Amino acid sequence: MRYPDERTEFTSSSSTHPSDLRAVAVRIATDAAAHVRARRHELFATTGTAALDDEPGTVATKSNPTDPVTIVDTETEALVRRQLADLRPHDRILGEEEGGAPADLAGLRWVVDPIDGTVNFVYGIPAYAVSVAAQIDGRSVAAAVVDVPNNVTYSAAAGQGATRTDSDGIVTDLRCNSVDSVSLALVATGFGYGAQRRQRQGELIAKLLPRVRDIRRVGSAALDLCMVASGLVDAHFEHGLGPWDWAGGALIAAEAGAVLRVPSAATSSDAGEVVVACAPGIADELDAVFSELGVYAPMPDY
Ligand code: IPD
Ligand code: CA
Repeated sequence: MRYPDERTEFTSSSSTHPSDLRAVAVRIATDAAAHVRARRHELFATTGTAALDDEPGTVATKSNPTDPVTIVDTETEALVRRQLADLRPHDRILGEEEGGAPADLAGLRWVVDPIDGTVNFVYGIPAYAVSVAAQIDGRSVAAAVVDVPNNVTYSAAAGQGATRTDSDGIVTDLRCNSVDSVSLALVATGFGYGAQRRQRQGELIAKLLPRVRDIRRVGSAALDLCMVASGLVDAHFEHGLGPWDWAGGALIAAEAGAVLRVPSAATSSDAGEVVVACAPGIADELDAVFSELGVYAPMPDY
């Protein structure tokens, strides 16, 4: 365990060193999370969705009627973009809500999910996060994921490990669990918004569930990946995530010792490729189980 005075301090330099990028990611994600927290309280003072009905224009839908986007997602991405433009005016940004050159991986770009777990945010389930990652040539080199309701910051820089900073500022180094059997693994997953992909995801879960300790569907892929890093689960997998869902959490998991499989950061979620992160002690066995069950086959949105 480490204490607050050892935290990485914010720097506004234009450096591409992973620790400088991490400091920027932490600062921006923390500010964005404070905005999300304050706005949820203002807009939906209680849990449950009833308050939303009283606020026309607060929630719209995206890919599917089940796929919400709130005014807070939009505002928060705009806030992140303004801060990045101030601090690092030459950097490119890919965000879940506004998009931005996903196919162009050359050089440095920021990959931003203003609220990962928007359905939880809408209902008031305390599992949603802001994710900010810096990628160089399509590889994540620095990241911060802030668990908004719990005010916990996960962060990592390539080659420098991953940490969790709690609401009192206490910093803990992250390590994956030492589990060594898939049959004892707690596996987090998630589902897309389209009905056809969901049907296939459900069929796959029916085959996997008897082979593992249990399944968790938390509702935020970024937090699932941080849970692999923290040892709160042993593995995470999901088909069809967008790069904003995994760019931050995947680096945090990898720096905590997880074995990762991610698509190219240029791949659209429509292609349905799978993201996998798992504790190292089950990597080979899980790979064999996933091969047997066909997990590596993409689940395109069709
Ligand atoms: C979603 C969450 C969820 C995952 C979905 C994602 P959103 O992101 O990460 O856990 O299962 O596939 O789309 O829509 O809340 O930003
Ligand atoms: Ca997301």
